Amino acid sequence: MPKKLVWNSGYSVGNETLDNQHKKLMDLCNKLAISDGQSDAQFHEILDELSAYARVHFATEEALLLACGYPLLGTQQEDHAEYEKQVVETLAAASNGTLDKVELQRLLSSWWNDHILISDRDYRGHVMAFSSGETTPAEKPALKFSTGEKVLALRKKTGLTQTPFWSRIGLTQSAGSRYESGRNIPRPVQHLLQLVYGTDKQSAELLTWLRYPGKF
Ligand SMILES: [Fe+2]
Repeated sequence: MPKKLVWNSGYSVGNETLDNQHKKLMDLCNKLAISDGQSDAQFHEILDELSAYARVHFATEEALLLACGYPLLGTQQEDHAEYEKQVVETLAAASNGTLDKVELQRLLSSWWNDHILISDRDYRGHVMAFSSGETTPAEKPALKFSTGEKVLALRKKTGLTQTPFWSRIGLTQSAGSRYESGRNIPRPVQHLLQLVYGTDKQSAELLTWLRYPGKF
């Protein structure tokens, strides 16, 4: 049976939200470990919870690291993608035969142990400096749809008429039409346009900046 994972303050990465998530992930790994001998259904229930919570954790971690301009964010993202791939592959292989529960527990416990104790410890200094205001926060992303001309071009690209286009951000056709004709577009409207119609990257960067404008 894999060694039980026990969190202590020395594992802190300098952010309470992430520390709490790491504690919960360790607990879930331990629950998997002690489920040896339990039914497959119970094992899979914990496994599903761990998979879902891992996704929540990765999204939180990546958003915070993006917000504080962590230079090795790409490495973290690759690690997270590799984890998801490994879990999917292991489960796919198991669907053709018998799932080796002990082996899977070992793999997951060891991965999370390394993630928390090694790879995440690398960003601790950066996160702490950011939280205490010692580093420069991420730049506010440029707003892409700031003029009537740009919004009109965007709408044409979507192929939508004014009513469905503007209703997606809660505005009427007549209000949207005025913006397209050159009326000054207020910031909140520009934000909504970018969140809804920007690329995934533009939208994610703006959302992160709005949620974490300077400090966690
Ligand atoms: Fe983490």
